[in-house]
Amino acid sequence: MYEKYLIHMNDPKDWLRHWDEGTQVVNDFILPRGPKEKDEMSDTIYHKDATVPYHQHRKGFETFEIAAGSVECFMRGKRFVAHAGDIIHIMPWTPHGFHFLEEGTIWRELFQEIDMSGGIWEKNTVNQNFPQYKEDPEFMRIYRGDPLNLTRETPVCIDVDKREMHEVRTPDFSYATWQGDGYEIRLKVGKWETNGVKEIWHASLKKGLVVEYAFPHCNWELYYIKEGSLEVEVMGERFVAGPDCLVHIPNFHPHTIRVLEDTKLYDYGGETDLMAMMEDLESVRKYHSEWLEDPDRMTAFRHKYKCFVTGIYMGK
Ligand SMILES: [Fe+2]
Repeated sequence: MYEKYLIHMNDPKDWLRHWDEGTQVVNDFILPRGPKEKDEMSDTIYHKDATVPYHQHRKGFETFEIAAGSVECFMRGKRFVAHAGDIIHIMPWTPHGFHFLEEGTIWRELFQEIDMSGGIWEKNTVNQNFPQYKEDPEFMRIYRGDPLNLTRETPVCIDVDKREMHEVRTPDFSYATWQGDGYEIRLKVGKWETNGVKEIWHASLKKGLVVEYAFPHCNWELYYIKEGSLEVEVMGERFVAGPDCLVHIPNFHPHTIRVLEDTKLYDYGGETDLMAMMEDLESVRKYHSEWLEDPDRMTAFRHKYKCFVTGIYMGK
């Protein structure tokens, strides 16, 4: 097996790395993959009144889901409070800093082009093994290199409601919503916001829905389950995934998902051009509805958008 398909985010056995940083602990679930450093995931769990200084990134995308607690945010000169259930998606060059308002606030992180875990590992390796070198200006010049972040004092900020911030995706937020037999999908983050790397969808799935990927395809899949439960079968292996689980399926691993009870999840894999496909499917329904009865044409249509579903239906 390439790596774990099922990750229980609250179970220490499923943590790749764990750091106690004093004002917060960090649990790493998935390390960054490929040249775009995709799909890195971790929890940072903050003590009350921990802070992240105001900074902006020269590159990289940060998607934070607040799994518990609340956070005072300073962003683009605005101040607002975000709460459990909100997602905050931050693009490069967006200034941001945070003040964690509740003990145990869980900041559930999805990174792209950042390698946050690598940075923490590097810092702790130096701190634990070579603290004396931190006094050495030549070492510090090499250690810091060209910093990824530009950090500065928090400016005087204007109070706003979180819904005025395009970075904040409240639970009811959706760019576009589609419904079918047994599912509703809502677009939370578009490809135009991840340099084309991924879309993020929220899916509400009805008990009994079956989704088959029988074809060995090039996409990696990453699901974050919020409520309910799924049975997943990957390469002959079966398991059940529930709340606070990640399902991480490598490419070329055919799989089937059966919804055991009504389920809400985030699709964090997002390699399919699903928004474009759903829009164009509406056009097919309107102008070329006979194509829907032609399996070869519909397979070609799906593959155009990197959609490799081979079956989606309500089971018995
Ligand atoms: Fe940041």
